[in-house]
Amino acid sequence: MKILIVGSGGREHAIAMSVAKSSRADKIYCAPGNAGIGQIAECVPIGAMEFEKLAAFAKEKFIDMTIIGMDDPLVGGVVDVFEAEGLRVFGPNKAAAILEGSKAFSKDLMKKYHIPTAAYENFDDPEKALAYLETAKMPIVLKADGLALGKGVLICQTLEEAKAGVREIMLDKKFGSAGNQMVIEEFMTGREVSVLSYVDGKTIRIMSSAQDHKRAKDGDRGLNTGGMGTFSPSPFYTKEVDDFCQKYIFQATVDAMAAEGRTFKGIIFFGLMLTEDGPKVLEYNARFGDPEAQVVLPRMKNDILDVMDACIDGTLDQIDLQFEDNAAVCVVLASDGYPVSYQKGYEIRGLEKFDGQDGYYCFHAGSKLNEEGQFVTNGGRVLGVTAKGADLKEARANAYKATEWVEFENKYMRHDIGRAIDDV
Ligand code: AMP
Ligand code: GLY
Repeated sequence: MKILIVGSGGREHAIAMSVAKSSRADKIYCAPGNAGIGQIAECVPIGAMEFEKLAAFAKEKFIDMTIIGMDDPLVGGVVDVFEAEGLRVFGPNKAAAILEGSKAFSKDLMKKYHIPTAAYENFDDPEKALAYLETAKMPIVLKADGLALGKGVLICQTLEEAKAGVREIMLDKKFGSAGNQMVIEEFMTGREVSVLSYVDGKTIRIMSSAQDHKRAKDGDRGLNTGGMGTFSPSPFYTKEVDDFCQKYIFQATVDAMAAEGRTFKGIIFFGLMLTEDGPKVLEYNARFGDPEAQVVLPRMKNDILDVMDACIDGTLDQIDLQFEDNAAVCVVLASDGYPVSYQKGYEIRGLEKFDGQDGYYCFHAGSKLNEEGQFVTNGGRVLGVTAKGADLKEARANAYKATEWVEFENKYMRHDIGRAIDDV
């Protein structure tokens, strides 16, 4: 099979690595990809939002399956463009990707189908939002409706902060048109868990759980980032939690989307909060998490192309999804200063130390080859160093050992990825 992967981050590198393991994969392309992905796939200089060019490329190269890694093209309707051309593509169409693309939509869906989530109100009028805040309980959570690079959520401690937040989102348009509508919702407390799943429109298969560390600094301090590291499985995702989610959240979401005429095929990522009143949905994403994919995919036993084929064909009920009985930890090596401002273009040394090391992976997020053919840093998040171990403790020790194999100027990482597990 010839495969095209769309995206350019660590998640797409992890997807490419999984595809490369399949005996069915003959040739892998990635658009636009990055230097690390370029070691296992041919990178094609087409942007993820250039739908017509991507489809033309897929036709020209007789691509058997295109896998969309990123949220923007999914929400923008890339799958519809491919399907209209008769091309085989993995991911939800535009009507279904709204599950991630509009928080107001997803909240209304959960309310209508009794899927547990925080209490909320939607607003498209800033005056009404400001008036609502006067009687609301603090802290409170403000969410821009649309995609905002994971930054459109504000947790406000006081009424003044919340009012300023509404103005930023709806009047100053800090997150652009994502702020034309907004959700104001109840603040919840508890452990967060990410559960990724494959969906074929009617059947859902849950992957092993994971947890992200979103803040830039140790101890969950500092600014929100795209994710500074992950671990899988989450020890907080117990049998009891799983039973609850199977009963009230997972299948209910797939059925709700089908009932709305928005049949969902692809990945649903459930962002859950384990509250005192039971698990509740924080958010849905319509794609693999980044860097959740970097700890979940290396542990998956199935051939990823078999599973994705089954999602497209509606035969996921015939797949027995299996994960290794171990753990994985991913530590992101970032450029110091991320997520605000940072330097790029520094040489990355030591990548070859990963060669032949079973259970160790170095996924590239922001790297490129310079004119001399050397790997250099090219982003805020540069590499995702992942290691497996018999349990989380061992995986964490292995991952931190491997972070020492690579060096670049300005290398920055958190030192407590997976630490949550110490208090179990
Ligand atoms: P989201 O993009 O919706 O996942 O929100 C980003 C982060 O904001 C989540 O991972 C949570 O840490 C936090 N968050 C979102 N909604 C709530 C809520 N209702 N209560 C408390 N924290 C929240
Ligand atoms: N790591 C969180 C996300 O991919 O949205």
